[in-house]
Amino acid sequence: MRSWFVQRAERVEGTLRVPGDKSISHRALLLGALAEGTTEIHGFLPSEDCQATLAALRALGVQIESGPGGLVRVVGRGAGALREPETVLDAGNSGTCLRLLAGVLAGCPFLSVLSGDGSLRQRPMRRIVEPLRAMGAAMDGRAGGQYPPLVIRGGALQGISWDSPVASAQVKSAILLAGLQAAGETSVGEPVLSRDHTERMLGAFGVRVRREGTRVTLSGRARLRATSVVVPGDVSSAAFFVVAAAAHPGGDVTLQGVGVNPTRTGLLEVLGAMGARVEVLAQRVEAGEPVADLHVRGTRLHGARILPLQVPRLIDEIPILAVAAALADGETVVEGAAELRVKEVDRLAALCGELSKLGADIREEGEGLRIRGPRPLQGAAVSSRGDHRMAMSLAVAALFAEGETEIRDVACVETSFPGFTDRLRAVAAGCRLQEVADG
Ligand code: S3P
Repeated sequence: MRSWFVQRAERVEGTLRVPGDKSISHRALLLGALAEGTTEIHGFLPSEDCQATLAALRALGVQIESGPGGLVRVVGRGAGALREPETVLDAGNSGTCLRLLAGVLAGCPFLSVLSGDGSLRQRPMRRIVEPLRAMGAAMDGRAGGQYPPLVIRGGALQGISWDSPVASAQVKSAILLAGLQAAGETSVGEPVLSRDHTERMLGAFGVRVRREGTRVTLSGRARLRATSVVVPGDVSSAAFFVVAAAAHPGGDVTLQGVGVNPTRTGLLEVLGAMGARVEVLAQRVEAGEPVADLHVRGTRLHGARILPLQVPRLIDEIPILAVAAALADGETVVEGAAELRVKEVDRLAALCGELSKLGADIREEGEGLRIRGPRPLQGAAVSSRGDHRMAMSLAVAALFAEGETEIRDVACVETSFPGFTDRLRAVAAGCRLQEVADG
């Protein structure tokens, strides 16, 4: 098991670029595999989660070459060219890999088995199994289709109109990917709009997707044309540095080339309400996704209320937001975050358990959190509990804690953010960060 030993930072300053967006990298591989022609992906995120999707597609017979500088070429020959895998497809820790691939495989006339690590095997799958069954795929999994491994015998699908009870881009995307191969129209509605990268990228691959409110619709038997995808920096990775700089007195950090798709920028909105000084500069659109540079300066933050409607747009940022809240004046309340219970770990429980060891005043309240700041943080031994975003959030908290913080079980950071520690060392002046492998 690997641990980090992190000390308080005197300053947080510098200019950096974060690696490519995880959600967009997965989707570029999948759509590239379904398209006709060679798709070039620039700025692909070479993290373990995305490598799981890449390896699974290779096991399905797709030719993929990865070159230097994050350039990946996917040679697509249409969904019909995918072939039965000889072995179980391993999604590792990645819900996006497993759920989106399930959508693709639902339309493929062969047997596939999808599984993953101990955390992924505890995550709910009925949310995709039910709609994919309704479209005509034969699917099963542990506990009647609730948990992986999932077994799929795909085939001729019929389009559906589905209302997802949860706002989930993974559910929406799984259904849309199956819908591409189905007869007739497929439409998906959700209570609040979740990230829309699949819809945007389908447009770039020549598929028309209509959106009315939170409902998206496409016509089946679609042909995808290969294209070039430019992956922006991942705003969920940038978030750790945004909060570190925003909460640090005298903090001054510029993050270049960050994706600022409005379905992902809830954190910036909430930080604004907390008094943070974040400038969104040089806004542009690259390959259908909005991109900008973020300039963040430190100040005193104050608490805020995060409402259920905002949660889908900051779903992965609640761990780092909890750190900001612990450092802010007054109370922060997060409401309607039940989905955090079914992420890589139960993040509501993990945040309360681990941040309170550092001295934060944080407790679970219903399906949310109540955090009272500011409390002086004190270095202690904490654990990521195997969750990458917990590990990185705790590392940022450690920059503000007196003395040294030991963060255990940090290898999971490779699932989303290779190179995190180098960047943290580069911007956190005076902070010693040591990585230690034990056992
Ligand atoms: C993702 C969607 C979200 C998010 C995850 C990535 C995606 O999950 O938490 O990290 O790439 O579609 P849900 O769809 O389960 O909310």
